[in-house]
Amino acid sequence: MDNRPVGMFDSGVGGLSVLRAFQSLAPNERVLYFADTAWFPYGPRPAAEVRKRCFAITQRLLASDVKMIVVACNTASAAAISDLREAFPVPFVGMVPGVKPAAVQSRTGRVVILATEGTLDGDLYGRVVEDFGRSTVIDAVPGTGLAELVEAGRTGTPDGTAAVKDVLNRSIAAGADTVVLGCTHYHFLIGDIRAAFPQLAIVDTSEAVARRAVQVLDDGGMRADSDNQQRLDLIVSGDSASFREAMGRLGFPATPQEATA
Ligand code: DGL
Repeated sequence: MDNRPVGMFDSGVGGLSVLRAFQSLAPNERVLYFADTAWFPYGPRPAAEVRKRCFAITQRLLASDVKMIVVACNTASAAAISDLREAFPVPFVGMVPGVKPAAVQSRTGRVVILATEGTLDGDLYGRVVEDFGRSTVIDAVPGTGLAELVEAGRTGTPDGTAAVKDVLNRSIAAGADTVVLGCTHYHFLIGDIRAAFPQLAIVDTSEAVARRAVQVLDDGGMRADSDNQQRLDLIVSGDSASFREAMGRLGFPATPQEATA
């Protein structure tokens, strides 16, 4: 048993998709969520810069004695997950784009992977495509502007649908029938994607990653006591009031406790 918190981080609200799944699977765990909004967006930044942020955030989370860290961001996972695992003595769980399930379920043999520029440039993505994508045509599409749209709370609006159409139109017209959400922010665009392309299958790995995190806790004998109260603490590197507002818009209860960055 281990009642210490689980650390989790993203550049902003994207990782809340993993947080929500994790909280429903592990109702007794405390989570310390670091939203690095002062550095948002990660997508266009050089990998070395994102890696530096990942190291700084990890050090801050470890200072609060977290027992495990979930890198709830594809861009950060692509830039840093193996270095983090080498450098720090806690388990890390990261995001990997769901190319494999998409390749398996596609009927047309053509899938879109929608991710940030940083993720699509990284080795991790290249490896996944090499491993699973041989028999499938994969359109790597940068979701330029989409994470910003989510962060600004403009999902579920005509803007959201139009932005999704804009980035996906070409691939869908070329026969893609499945989209892999390769950025945790895009989870919150699922409604817009469905509105724009009702037939399109969507592969979202947020729940699978949450499940993996629970499994790592189980395997390490690190689950919290069954009478431990679920709790969420926040660290926001940018403006915390607007981050809380964004959380509220996504349906998270108001005013979680807050630590300092
Ligand atoms: N949520 C991040 C991801 O999963 C990206 C958003 C950003 O560009 O900061 O890749």
